[in-house]
Amino acid sequence: LASERPVNVALLGAGTVGAEVGRVLIEKRDVYGRQLGRPLNVAGVVVRDTSKPREGIDAGLLTTDAAGLLDDPEVDIVVELLGVEQPAVDWMKQAMSNGKHVVTANKEVMAKHGPQLLALARENAVNLLFEASVGGGIPIIAPLRRDLLANDVSAISAIINGTTNYILTAMTREGADFADALKRAQELGYAEPDPANDVEGEDARYKLAILASLAFHAPVQRDDIYREGITKLTARDFRYAAELGYAIKLLALASRVDGGIQARVHPVLLPADAPLAKVDGVLNAIQVEGDLIGRVNFQGPGAGFPTTSAVIADVLAAAQSVIGGRPSAYVSEDAPANLVPMAELITRYYIRLTVVDQPGVLAQIAKLLGDAKISIASVIQKETHEASNTAELVIMTHEAREASVQDALKAVEKLPEVQEIGNFIRVEEQ
Ligand SMILES: NC(=O)c1ccc[n+]([C@@H]2O[C@H](COP(=O)([O-])OP(=O)(O)OC[C@H]3O[C@@H](n4cnc5c(N)ncnc54)[C@H](OP(=O)(O)O)[C@@H]3O)[C@@H](O)[C@H]2O)c1
Repeated sequence: LASERPVNVALLGAGTVGAEVGRVLIEKRDVYGRQLGRPLNVAGVVVRDTSKPREGIDAGLLTTDAAGLLDDPEVDIVVELLGVEQPAVDWMKQAMSNGKHVVTANKEVMAKHGPQLLALARENAVNLLFEASVGGGIPIIAPLRRDLLANDVSAISAIINGTTNYILTAMTREGADFADALKRAQELGYAEPDPANDVEGEDARYKLAILASLAFHAPVQRDDIYREGITKLTARDFRYAAELGYAIKLLALASRVDGGIQARVHPVLLPADAPLAKVDGVLNAIQVEGDLIGRVNFQGPGAGFPTTSAVIADVLAAAQSVIGGRPSAYVSEDAPANLVPMAELITRYYIRLTVVDQPGVLAQIAKLLGDAKISIASVIQKETHEASNTAELVIMTHEAREASVQDALKAVEKLPEVQEIGNFIRVEEQ
């Protein structure tokens, strides 16, 4: 059937992100095909150097002929992962003019040309999706475009540059100076050899331009956003801030104020118990305030491999548009979920019991637990009631099987020295 032909995807770029996206699309082809009800096929991958091997991507797919793919009527979706402004913009325009959906991770392109490209997408009735352009793997663009659309957004506060957040976290924790923290970030690959774009707040400014434009439904230009980087911060600032009860973070802020929109990127003192003050290391977080929802937080890894998650989600959404009319939720009725019985849960337990206050009781309880292969991590004896000659014990176990714990507790309860099992609570270490 002609309508059952695969959905064809062309990749522009196979660098850090592109090669991963290509590899995963190929590796998980069957899974995605099942989700869509139609095969999802990588039709070609545009690179500069076709002789360089790309793991998981057949060399036969590599090409330097972008036009060949952009003008191919069989190609449905173009994924732009070039990491440069040009030819990315021209190729995206060409793809959309040819009726193809476009997915991009390019913050520079979306910050500078977003409104114009979105208009072109609308004109050509195609999708332009750019989830990975802000916050790496964190879903934030789709929520702003869809889930939060009923709101009047009043403010966005975001940590959207992992490099600077890593440096600031190191300065906070170790009392390091900026230069030392930067050097270490570079050694660990969290900062580029030329870090200016990140540490001067330029990268965050691109991303804020994208977020603010979507949130306020009006083009917010990068150059209109006030910007200050983190290079002037010293170890002393962090010490004094901590003494005053504050953390120092580089925030990207946009809000509606009297007379318009205020947008700025600069270091701020943030109350130490504020949610964003606790976002550490290379994590990103975006907080959105809307009239209906109140405050909502999105948090997660802002770069690296998780970016692939965002790019492929966009590819799948575009593929759904190609196929048309199919619901995006995927719950297969053919494959049972196989829920594992509660009895097979393995976790740690907190057990509180009231026992007669006499020697040897704990040993008896420990034996019953031991017989059931439940090992005790710690025991504390709480209040002793002299009148009733009882004591309260709190036992923390190591990991054990739920069924064993339930059985052992039944045996423990039968001990004449045990008055009651006050409670047992499962422990979740996260
Ligand atoms: N890295 C991340 O964690 C991350 C996170 C979020 C978003 N992003 C965004 O993702 C995009 C891609 O980043 P990246 O780190 O993957 O970039 P990259 O490693 O520099 O890869 C760029 C790729 O594009 C190809 N390319 C560049 N110019 C070309 C041209 N004129 N013709 C043909 N091919 C060309 C390169 O080909 P060759 O390999 O042959 O040189 C390379 O495969 C960027 O927009 C970036 O901002 C990255």
